[in-house]
Amino acid sequence: MPPPRLGVNVDHVATLRQARRVAYPDPVAAAVLAELGGADQITLHVREDRRHVQERDLQILRRTASTRLNLEMATTPELVRIAHEQKPDVCTLVPERREELTTEGGLDAVGGREVVRRVVKTLRDAEIEVSLFIDPDLDQLRAAHRADAQAVEFHTGRYAEARLAADRRRELARLLDACKAAAKLGLRVAAGHGLSYQNVGAVAAIAEVEELNIGHAIVARAVLVGMERAVREMKELLREARP
Ligand code: PXP
Repeated sequence: MPPPRLGVNVDHVATLRQARRVAYPDPVAAAVLAELGGADQITLHVREDRRHVQERDLQILRRTASTRLNLEMATTPELVRIAHEQKPDVCTLVPERREELTTEGGLDAVGGREVVRRVVKTLRDAEIEVSLFIDPDLDQLRAAHRADAQAVEFHTGRYAEARLAADRRRELARLLDACKAAAKLGLRVAAGHGLSYQNVGAVAAIAEVEELNIGHAIVARAVLVGMERAVREMKELLREARP
């Protein structure tokens, strides 16, 4: 069986850039390197407060990404307009609260069914595939199916954050049930959030999972595995300055 496709989320490259409001590191350059490394998709979240990814990043990535472009977005009129303009291959609808550190919990496809259905329709009418980022919960899954989404991405945060082995097992079982149910409904199944080099194995082993979207752990590791070379290059410049 082939492994799940990997979507690399480049948001946190932009987080590092925005910390200084400079031009580097560029998430577009990171996306090129991610694709060279084998990424099957580039994922990015244009947040309402633009805390990391900027619209310009999306515009450039739309023209340069050679794999698939997955835009994570809230169900707001502004983001729907941006999606219509930029036409990513897929839009993943996510909940968004200004004060949160990262996306906490899945979209409420049950409570927000009218808005979700409307946004799914307008995006699908523009021939953009739509995925809903939901908790591994059967009510949410049924609502996603009723809203006519083509895919779901299950929020793996509770699994990733579980400290006790028993909690982790319980969350994994929940995820497994939800993945099987989603596949039965004919939905494409993705998963993500909080996945790391330590915890990804059990989720990647779920046969129904076709795609994983991973950001923070990959960007964090890139900082470390690239540090030695970065320092060596700076030392070289210092040497060259005094021949
Ligand atoms: N998938 C979705 C829908 C997300 O919102 C996020 C976080 O932006 C991720 C995947 C990636 O999460 P992480 O950065 O924890 O790997």
